[in-house]
Amino acid sequence: MRSSSLFIALSAVAGAVASFGELPAGVPRNVDEFRAKHPYKRSTGCGGKRRIITIRDSKNETDDVADEFLEGLQKANHGGTLYLPKDKLYIIGKPLDLTFLDDVQVHWDGEVKFTNDTPYWQANAFAHPFQNSLMFWKWGGKDIKIHGEGILNGNGQRWWNEFAGLEILDPDNEYLRPILFYAENATNFQMEGIHEKDSPCWTNFVVTSQGVSFKNVIVTAESNNASSLPKNTDFFDSLNVVDLTVEKVWVNIGDDCFSPKSNATNVHVDTMYCNGTHGQSMGSVGQYKGEYSYIQDVVIENVWLLNGQHGARIKTWAGPDVGYGFVDNVTFRNFWQANNEYSAFLDSCYFNINASTCAAYPSQMNITNVLFENFSGYTSGKYGTAVAKLTCSSNPNAVCDNIQFRNFNVTSPCGDAVILCDGIKGGLGTDCVASNSTEGIAALKSTCTVPQATSTVTPW
Ligand SMILES: *[C@@H]1O[C@H](CO)[C@@H](O)[C@H](O)[C@H]1NC(C)=O
Ligand SMILES: *[C@@H]1O[C@H](CO)[C@@H](O)[C@H](O)[C@H]1NC(C)=O
Ligand SMILES: *[C@@H]1O[C@H](CO)[C@@H](O)[C@H](O)[C@H]1NC(C)=O
Ligand SMILES: *[C@@H]1O[C@H](CO)[C@@H](O)[C@H](O)[C@H]1NC(C)=O
Ligand SMILES: *[C@@H]1O[C@H](CO)[C@@H](O)[C@H](O)[C@H]1NC(C)=O
Ligand SMILES: *[C@@H]1O[C@H](CO)[C@@H](O)[C@H](O)[C@H]1NC(C)=O
Ligand SMILES: *[C@@H]1O[C@H](CO)[C@@H](O)[C@H](O)[C@H]1NC(C)=O
Ligand SMILES: *[C@@H]1O[C@H](CO)[C@@H](O)[C@H](O)[C@H]1NC(C)=O
Ligand SMILES: *[C@@H]1O[C@H](CO)[C@@H](O)[C@H](O)[C@H]1NC(C)=O
Ligand SMILES: *[C@@H]1O[C@H](CO)[C@@H](O)[C@H](O)[C@H]1NC(C)=O
Ligand SMILES: *[C@@H]1O[C@H](CO)[C@@H](O)[C@H](O)[C@H]1NC(C)=O
Repeated sequence: MRSSSLFIALSAVAGAVASFGELPAGVPRNVDEFRAKHPYKRSTGCGGKRRIITIRDSKNETDDVADEFLEGLQKANHGGTLYLPKDKLYIIGKPLDLTFLDDVQVHWDGEVKFTNDTPYWQANAFAHPFQNSLMFWKWGGKDIKIHGEGILNGNGQRWWNEFAGLEILDPDNEYLRPILFYAENATNFQMEGIHEKDSPCWTNFVVTSQGVSFKNVIVTAESNNASSLPKNTDFFDSLNVVDLTVEKVWVNIGDDCFSPKSNATNVHVDTMYCNGTHGQSMGSVGQYKGEYSYIQDVVIENVWLLNGQHGARIKTWAGPDVGYGFVDNVTFRNFWQANNEYSAFLDSCYFNINASTCAAYPSQMNITNVLFENFSGYTSGKYGTAVAKLTCSSNPNAVCDNIQFRNFNVTSPCGDAVILCDGIKGGLGTDCVASNSTEGIAALKSTCTVPQATSTVTPW
């Protein structure tokens, strides 16, 4: 737990420049304070009546109990609970197909850990075509609940070391890493309480599922090696989900925090802390040539984003070989941010293309009815006094309408905050300037950094 360093960094800022760094009252600074503020209580429901199945635990780090785990879930299926007691270790050394589940719970107080035999997993893990994903296992079925204070450990260090220097979206990348938790065709799936730790790649990927919830979950990916970062360890990604809720989660990973991708409907996030992430993203969407995709009816509220890249973000692909679709009815509300680059970012030129290519092949996604409401905190100064950047597609067929800011008060450590807006029909409801205007260029030039110092701010 390196929570103290966030405390030092943030409080640091508070000491030097009071207006840039004071955590708002009551904000936890580490996992322990998160648990203290949002205590996890296992909701047993009619759990007392469920039959309890136990399995043998691992004797050491190579003692694979994958077969026992599978058998345990088979026995617990249809009304039972697989019980993994505290302080027990369960090593999984081969892929598991768990898509047969129907009314099953896992009372997960122990630790489930994957082996780190990287060549074995690369040859044997399940695969999904989306961004060339690998998965350790597949969960699926209906009425599935994982709950407890245990750990799901991806044992990611070796994977991050071996991936160092590579890029996941590089079409030539052949070093694939598994996703820690994958579910497909799940109906009424709940994960509560557990700590998802050190995923090799994305932490959760949920596909073609309805009624999915994550509550009181802790998600971390922390490298012990400064030259191999826990890259692409996104907290949450999805395709084709309906009715998704996330409540009270603590995330400290490297990449997107919560980022539903193609086809998400009715999404609600309430109370999420993200440290060191690429931001709270919608998408990316529109990646694949000719593919139709959408994100609609989303509320993301009560979010603290610290020490990351961007804040509230929507990213849609542009370029010669991309897809089309829409993003509609998205509200980002009550965001507090410290030390991020753009606190709000609508990027219609994703991924890695230059301005002339984006202008020649603009995004084909409609973006409508997006609200950024009640934003506060401060940026890192990387983009000078520009604290937000909203760019609509220049494609005349891609509607970009009703993008609004309300009660937006994110400050820049470099001077009076400026909002950049390009191609936004009807304006943002607040002052903004074009990024290539004199004011926009000056804002981007006036970079600075947030000073370090110390402070003794306590959250309560
Ligand atoms: C936040 O991330 C930074 C690295 O980006 C790390 O040094 C710090 O410990 C993290 N803070 C928490 C609270 O996890
Ligand atoms: C790990 O435990 C298994 C099962 O008890 C045993 O067969 C194996 O020899 C142990 N391996 C090591 C390295 O201790
Ligand atoms: C999806 O799950 C349901 C049960 O929940 C099952 O009947 C159906 O066959 C599954 N579909 C696929 C494509 O796996
Ligand atoms: C740290 O990661 C780098 C880059 O992959 C690797 O060369 C080095 O061996 C790693 N160090 C340790 C102690 O594992
Ligand atoms: C999203 O939905 C559209 C329309 O139903 C479908 O054509 C497309 O394949 C879906 N996208 C994914 C990633 O499944
Ligand atoms: C927008 O999405 C929210 C969240 O799903 C929903 O409650 C609301 O009804 C939607 N608004 C419209 C106009 O569809
Ligand atoms: C984008 O909006 C236009 C105008 O409302 C509409 O004609 C078009 O079908 C929309 N495209 C998508 C992919 O929804
Ligand atoms: C933009 O990228 C395209 C495609 O990679 C390249 O052909 C072009 O020269 C680039 N233009 C500029 C101005 O860098
Ligand atoms: C805006 O944020 C402040 C400070 O976090 C909070 O007290 C207030 O209730 C929020 N307003 C709305 C409309 O949610
Ligand atoms: C905006 O935020 C700054 C810094 O936190 C604060 O001093 C100021 O009062 C806020 N302004 C409004 C209108 O809330
Ligand atoms: C700024 O960019 C817009 C297109 O986004 C272009 O039409 C305009 O000419 C540019 N203005 C300047 C001053 O370069």
